[in-house]
Amino acid sequence: MASTSMPELPVVPDTDPSKAVLDSFRISIAKRLSDALPIPLEQALTGVDYGKKGEDFTVALPRFRLPGKVDEIAAKVIEKFQPDEWVEAVVHDKAFLHFRINTTNMFRLVLDQVHALTHSSSSGKPEYGTNESGKGKKVIIEYSSPNIAKSFHVGHLRSTIIGAFLVNLYKACGWEVISMNYLGDWGTQFGLIATGYEKYGSQEELEKDAIKHLFDVYVQVNKDADADPNVKVEAAQWFKRMEDGDESALKNWRIWREMSVKKYEDEYDRLNVKFDVYTGESAVGKESMDNALKQLEDMGLICESNGAKLVDLEKYKLGKAVVRKKDGTSIYLTRDIGGAIERYEKYKFDKMIYVVASQQDLHLAQFFKVLELMGFPWAKNLLHINYGLVQGMSTRKGTVVFLDQIIKEAGNVMHEQMQKNEDKYAAVEDPETTSLEIGITGVKIQDMAAKRINNYTFNWDRMKSFEGDTGPYLQYAHVRLASIGRKNPHLNPLPAPSAIDTSTLAQYSHARDIAFLLGTYPDVVKVALKTHEPSGIVTFAFRLAHAISSAWDSVIVKGEEDIEKARAKMYLYECAREVLGAAMRLLSIRPLERM
Ligand code: ARG
Repeated sequence: MASTSMPELPVVPDTDPSKAVLDSFRISIAKRLSDALPIPLEQALTGVDYGKKGEDFTVALPRFRLPGKVDEIAAKVIEKFQPDEWVEAVVHDKAFLHFRINTTNMFRLVLDQVHALTHSSSSGKPEYGTNESGKGKKVIIEYSSPNIAKSFHVGHLRSTIIGAFLVNLYKACGWEVISMNYLGDWGTQFGLIATGYEKYGSQEELEKDAIKHLFDVYVQVNKDADADPNVKVEAAQWFKRMEDGDESALKNWRIWREMSVKKYEDEYDRLNVKFDVYTGESAVGKESMDNALKQLEDMGLICESNGAKLVDLEKYKLGKAVVRKKDGTSIYLTRDIGGAIERYEKYKFDKMIYVVASQQDLHLAQFFKVLELMGFPWAKNLLHINYGLVQGMSTRKGTVVFLDQIIKEAGNVMHEQMQKNEDKYAAVEDPETTSLEIGITGVKIQDMAAKRINNYTFNWDRMKSFEGDTGPYLQYAHVRLASIGRKNPHLNPLPAPSAIDTSTLAQYSHARDIAFLLGTYPDVVKVALKTHEPSGIVTFAFRLAHAISSAWDSVIVKGEEDIEKARAKMYLYECAREVLGAAMRLLSIRPLERM
């Protein structure tokens, strides 16, 4: 792979050229800085940033806080500068030094690394972009967590989308990940449903669509409860029996839960989402909650009000929170406290992430604080990943309450859009499946395009468009790349990388842009792990897609008569497809081969 003529480089912690070859180029630049200036290599390295607009790497000299004028400092580096196989040139511009890396070697090393880590990785899976920073560590990522018998609202959809991304991201960074769905499967509403079920329940409806039927019963019985206060009393008694473990009160509940989970599993499957563990509020043991309460009481953190118990967090500006009701039944907060303790005992995680809407910021801050006050050293390893509201996601017929409606609508909207182009539509093998996949991509991309915390208004017209930074555009870019091999059978399959002369690509600036971007992908992944923002990956995917579409006219494969050149170009596009595909998969999207 790497030509033996590349000058030797020092080894620097937190870099790994075997996974991210641009690290080598950065180290080579850093070495020049530390040779010319009184700064250690590692510090120099932190100053080597990606450049803007056409610059490869840029160093902002003031950040090193060296004595003397910036021009003199720059001059010292420039005087000593010798081009080599890593770095070709340096330009001084005000407080900045711009470094240009060796084009031929960049092509060779980046493309070969993409290829090698995609096709012959040790795990057998595509590995380009991954790193080992989380090796030996375990994270629980709890996400989605809908409430059985209530609607699966858009907030749950966001949690599902962002959570699935985080699962992929942590895995890509070497962590052992346990993905967990913490169902809202407990609480007084189940007393209500049980009460209503006697009147409105139907075995047949339940089997048809458990989620919908339970929701209907819930809506009906709520109406009854508004009219007749006795209904609520009856429901509370019923739930009390459930909490006390009365098997006759639990029997139906068990069936409801199981059937709801089954239905959810199908829908998650369509979204390319999987859980290692389905747990829920019902699974939190009474004992762990009782022990926690007792400990809080011993610590003097509990006060009573009207027979209910509250934990006083005023000191931390987190208010007072009820942890036990008057009738002794548990509540949401207490279940979270007990649940976290049980999870630690069971999994001994290094980190646990809760992907929950920002509306619950206070709730999470409260139970994290309680666990910290109780003295659990692992409480500092709990992390709330929050996100803003989505407005306007309803089907064209009305409001969405169920996940399957959102999925169906996404497929339908996309299907109609595709039918508008008759010729293309006729060529699609399985238009139903394809439009569903593109529709889901549209929903996901719209959700992950901006910072998590932003609220946004969902827009079906934008989602379905093939133009602009949309999901369909991304799928289209991937499909177009995938078609190159099919359209050029004389080049397919390509010879081994060592037999491809990538130096012929050097004449195309658009090709250089693509290869350099591919080289940055491992860093894009690392940054995402720090910010927990899918938007960085989305932005990268669009930059890459744009760079590719700018290249189509000049870097042509079909019609290139020089076979060496044609191969090199196709190799570039193949690598681009692999990296675009990797970025899409990280976002939980299934890249399409045809559309
Ligand atoms: N089921 C809850 C809801 O829909 C979300 C659960 C979030 N996770 C947690 N551990 N509290 O509001």
